[in-house]
Amino acid sequence: MSRRAIIIIKTLLHLLCLAPFAWLLHLFTSSALSNYADPINYITHFTGDWTLNLLFVTLAITPIRRLSPALAFLIRFRRLLGLYAFFYATLHLSTYIFLFSGYDITTALAGLRAGHPSELVTQWKLIWPRMVGDALKRRFIQVGLFAWTLLLALAVTSPTFILRAMGGKNWQRLHRLIYVAAIAGIIHFWWLVKKGDYSPAFDTLVLTILLLARVAYVVIKRSKKTTATLKSA
Ligand code: HEM
Repeated sequence: MSRRAIIIIKTLLHLLCLAPFAWLLHLFTSSALSNYADPINYITHFTGDWTLNLLFVTLAITPIRRLSPALAFLIRFRRLLGLYAFFYATLHLSTYIFLFSGYDITTALAGLRAGHPSELVTQWKLIWPRMVGDALKRRFIQVGLFAWTLLLALAVTSPTFILRAMGGKNWQRLHRLIYVAAIAGIIHFWWLVKKGDYSPAFDTLVLTILLLARVAYVVIKRSKKTTATLKSA
């Protein structure tokens, strides 16, 4: 694939991945957000859903590219998609901190403008005990934080110079944690919905298919290796 084609596809992917964020910005800058019964709840769910969607697209790259050598170029876009999954996970976490938990951003910014940057910390101190209490009490928050921490580790180690420093094999092993993050994301979803609510079922099915594709690939690769060893013996 030519360099020009890669640049065009990357530009399109950036635009597609930023579209949900642009939608959120539109809601914030217009009065459209007031059309929702619970705007904060809507934003939390929207960013949570997009984190999962982008995690799945990232995970789907590997099995799809293995279908044909002609699709091998897809690997060039996996890192970009993974970083967008982290971007939405961070927006989701920020929604929880700044909107859900009651961080008074207006007061904090007014303080900042008036030359009192300490107001940022004061507001933080006010919500911190509530957030810690929430995290200790609600297991879906714990598993969500676990998933986000894994994605943070993957995002931080994503640059090429870190890949080189770590060595390809170690880097690959670490980056398989994306599967653990996706599983934790699904557990988070099941634990937050009420009993009898099956809304996480579709996402669970998608992740199961992606995990099965991975297992099938490993099994086929191993059996091919065994056959080759037996033939050469
Ligand atoms: C990779 C990490 C995460 C993923 C994939 C994720 C995904 C999701 C999903 C899919 C939903 C439900 C969306 C819907 O109902 O349509 C959700 C809701 C929510 N998440 Fe997360 N989440 C993650 C991390 C976190 C973290 C770190 C926090 C907070 C510390 C958090 C707090 C919440 C809250 C408060 C809700 C709404 C709960 C409610 O409706 O009562 N999530 N998340």
